[in-house]
Amino acid sequence: MSGTEKDLNPTEQVELAHKAFEQEFERFVRLTDYEVVLNAALPLEEALAEQRALGEVRTRHLGKKSALTAARKLIGKVPADERPAFGQIVQQKEAAITSLIEQAERNLAELIERSRTALESIDVTLPGRRPRRGHAHPITLVRERIEDIFVALGYVIEDDREIETDFYNFDALNIPDNHPARASQDTFYTTDGFALRSQTSTVQIHAMQRRGVPVRMIAPGRVFRRDTPDPTHNPMFYQVEGLCVDRGITMAHLKGTVAEFLRRMFGPDTVTRFRPSYFPFTEPSAEFDFSCFKCKGSGCRICKNSGWIELGGSGMVHPNVLRTVGVDPQIYSGFAFGLGIDRMCALMYGLDDIRLLFENEVRFLKQFS
Ligand code: FA5
Repeated sequence: MSGTEKDLNPTEQVELAHKAFEQEFERFVRLTDYEVVLNAALPLEEALAEQRALGEVRTRHLGKKSALTAARKLIGKVPADERPAFGQIVQQKEAAITSLIEQAERNLAELIERSRTALESIDVTLPGRRPRRGHAHPITLVRERIEDIFVALGYVIEDDREIETDFYNFDALNIPDNHPARASQDTFYTTDGFALRSQTSTVQIHAMQRRGVPVRMIAPGRVFRRDTPDPTHNPMFYQVEGLCVDRGITMAHLKGTVAEFLRRMFGPDTVTRFRPSYFPFTEPSAEFDFSCFKCKGSGCRICKNSGWIELGGSGMVHPNVLRTVGVDPQIYSGFAFGLGIDRMCALMYGLDDIRLLFENEVRFLKQFS
């Protein structure tokens, strides 16, 4: 209390406290008018700020440390003849202040309640916004067709890791130490020497180690090569690997299986042809082509007028590969094949660039729903 305030008698002090309240409350006076408050275009955030400010005014003028509370404590101490009048004035002032603050609080609370309800309410008569239904990616659609065909032929589906050791990516596949595929121009390596698998043939090894033989499996999955992107190449693409190992498996089984797969994929008239080739993990090896599904072999834009479409590699599993996984090549033999899903997908949907498949362009992708 300042020197002058100290000199005031208790009634004057109460009057002074009331004046101070009135001054401070001036900016809240409009809040005591119900109509004004509810018509005020007060955003919710501002109304909440007003509510906090009003709370502070209440504490300052009616709280434990307020002048009015101090005055109430004085009632018993003033001379007996002044007591009733002083008591009355304290009560009146307290009632007046409380009444104003409470009116403002009530109106403000209602305003806040209304703006909250308005914000949260939903107009159930508005037409709904239908979420756009997603669908499988074209590569997934092709992969699922391939899987369905092989499952029907009695094959299991294998999945395995995309980051490999040199053993699975190269050694176990009979790829010699000096093979160019091992060079970092061709294969992606992690900083700690793991390779991103460059073909799904790695899964042959895992599958035979895990399942033993006989085995019939396909392994669709992502592979990585340091190829420069162009209409038929991507550094990341999908392959599907096939493996069948049992007693007495021959090249005839390989040809029959691939031919049957392609007939189920592209139609019963589809013809398959095998061309000699080389892969370190198969011996003999062959690449396979099928008669163009568009022109049936007479030549068109899709088959570049050759009548044939190249699809993948295959061959009889090399005895060294079987030995690596503890299978005796004197007892067991097998065939394997691998093909690129992205290129097959491009062929089937008439795309002239496989890069379209990875651009995440919704206008392109939604054509496949
Ligand atoms: C292989 O990867 C062998 N592992 C296939 C195999 C499996 C042979 C089992 C014998 C036994 P190749 O490198 O040719 O083979 O690749 C197979 C297919 O992958 C190709 O026919 C092609 O369709 C696809 N392909 C290869 N490189 C790319 C690329 N950069 N982008 C998209 N597709 C590709």
